[in-house]
Amino acid sequence: MILLLNGPNLGMLGTREVDVYGTTTLPDIEREVRAAAAAQQVRVDTLQTNHEGVAIDRLEQRDFDGLIINPGAWTHYSYALRDALASVPVSIVEIHISAVDEREDFRRNNVIRDVVSHTISGQGWQGYLQALEWLLAQGVR
Ligand code: DQA
Repeated sequence: MILLLNGPNLGMLGTREVDVYGTTTLPDIEREVRAAAAAQQVRVDTLQTNHEGVAIDRLEQRDFDGLIINPGAWTHYSYALRDALASVPVSIVEIHISAVDEREDFRRNNVIRDVVSHTISGQGWQGYLQALEWLLAQGVR
């Protein structure tokens, strides 16, 4: 099972800063990822939370074989999330809809990049599908 975890403000996709993040909603994205995984007989569990502790509690459950995470702004400053990800024993793909390294200076600061397995950034919502493909290509089920 692959866990698809979205952090703060990502529940507002579709109406949030549409010039940056587009008009596709999070339920749309989750549906697409679930369908693409189901075609390979792989299950996807989803969670969006604005609460760091809830995200870390979910990561501590250790019931997933691969992780796709868009940590939103936590990416740039959350050592708590970084520590949690560092102890996750499975492959992790960090995904950002926007090109985080080409935006404001504070977004270039990334405290999780060296503890994830792979990063996809600036590919729009389709980046989530690319993240799934990457995990499947590693043999994650
Ligand atoms: C984001 C980029 C982050 O800098 C921002 O805080 C987000 C979304 C993205 O998907 O492009 O909330 O992770």
